[in-house]
Amino acid sequence: MVGVGAVPARYEHVSWKRVSPVAESESKDVIELLLEQHQQVRDLFSRLREAQGAETRTDLFRDLVRLLAVHETAEEIVVHPMARSTIESGEQVVQERLEEESSAKQVLSQLYDMGVEHPEFAGTLNSLAEDVTEHADSEEQREFAQLRQDLPADRLRELASAVRAAESAAPTRPHPAAGESAAGNMLAGPPVGIFDRVRDAVRDWNREHQHA
Ligand SMILES: [Fe+2]
Ligand SMILES: [Fe+2]
Repeated sequence: MVGVGAVPARYEHVSWKRVSPVAESESKDVIELLLEQHQQVRDLFSRLREAQGAETRTDLFRDLVRLLAVHETAEEIVVHPMARSTIESGEQVVQERLEEESSAKQVLSQLYDMGVEHPEFAGTLNSLAEDVTEHADSEEQREFAQLRQDLPADRLRELASAVRAAESAAPTRPHPAAGESAAGNMLAGPPVGIFDRVRDAVRDWNREHQHA
């Protein structure tokens, strides 16, 4: 039997974080998950900005739509309502964030309709990146920090499963090894459909977990 600490030499560089993603993600609270996603959104915008080739940019754009559908929907259905009723000036803080999210969704749809090779795609994407980054900064400073102060830790951990419900409802990028083609990939469809699908799943989660 292998005792604690007897890590085979070839795994010594691998952190526990990487070998046990499920256990780790299940212990995180909703704010930690949302902050991680903010970073993923920022990273995806910069990768998209630098990416060469229509196929790569299309893939990255789909990843962005998926991530924003998961993230913004969990916020809209679960986190913002909680903030609205809990934090100081919640009504105003949340209203501003909802308006920013709604306009970002519209721009995502415009970008989808344009396609990555449209001459205005890059400019529109840059302005979306600025708006979404500013939006995330506002949430971090005016909403998340306050929620962490005002809500008990176990409630914040419980709310993390809303983000996971959103995750599991969002279509993933097809794997070429599974024989899925680029045409199959298109089945994911326009952003509005992806947001709707995720919204249904998070609403179901909300119905099952509602208690104040
Ligand atoms: Fe948001
Ligand atoms: Fe956010």
